[in-house]
Amino acid sequence: MKIMRSVYDAAIIQFPKILDDRGNLTFIEEERHVPFKINRVYWIYDVPGGESRGSHAYRELQEVIIALSGSFEVFLDDGMAQKTVNLGRAYYGLYVPNLIWRRMQNFSTNSIALVLASLPYNVGDYIRDYTEFKRMDKLL
Ligand code: TYD
Repeated sequence: MKIMRSVYDAAIIQFPKILDDRGNLTFIEEERHVPFKINRVYWIYDVPGGESRGSHAYRELQEVIIALSGSFEVFLDDGMAQKTVNLGRAYYGLYVPNLIWRRMQNFSTNSIALVLASLPYNVGDYIRDYTEFKRMDKLL
């Protein structure tokens, strides 16, 4: 049986939300609310209007993307199907498996994209050439 990586493997995770009149609180524990060990956290901020970030795929890296502040879209492409997910709540995360082309775009003013990553930074893990990505046999 041949199972291909698909944009439908990307999924919204709802994190715990502790509502409080003093301000709400959300937390994340690795391997409990996120389906991998968190080896790295980075965030994207001060994005000028109309800019996009992260137009590439990863060979191995899995991520969870959170709109900690403001809103933006995550465009996903598995080489066959495309999907655009809107993020705009601090208690939602988008799980993006490896071997999915993804781009963050349409950032609102002052938005912050928090990214939980399964691996340390490795430039060799990036697939930046969309033609190469399309040619890859994206078996699970
Ligand atoms: P990159 O992931 O290439 O951003 P984008 O895909 O949006 O263009 O990262 C931009 C730069 O930041 C690149 O030179 C590598 C560096 N970087 C790190 O050093 N560590 C990290 O964890 C990340 C995400 C990027």
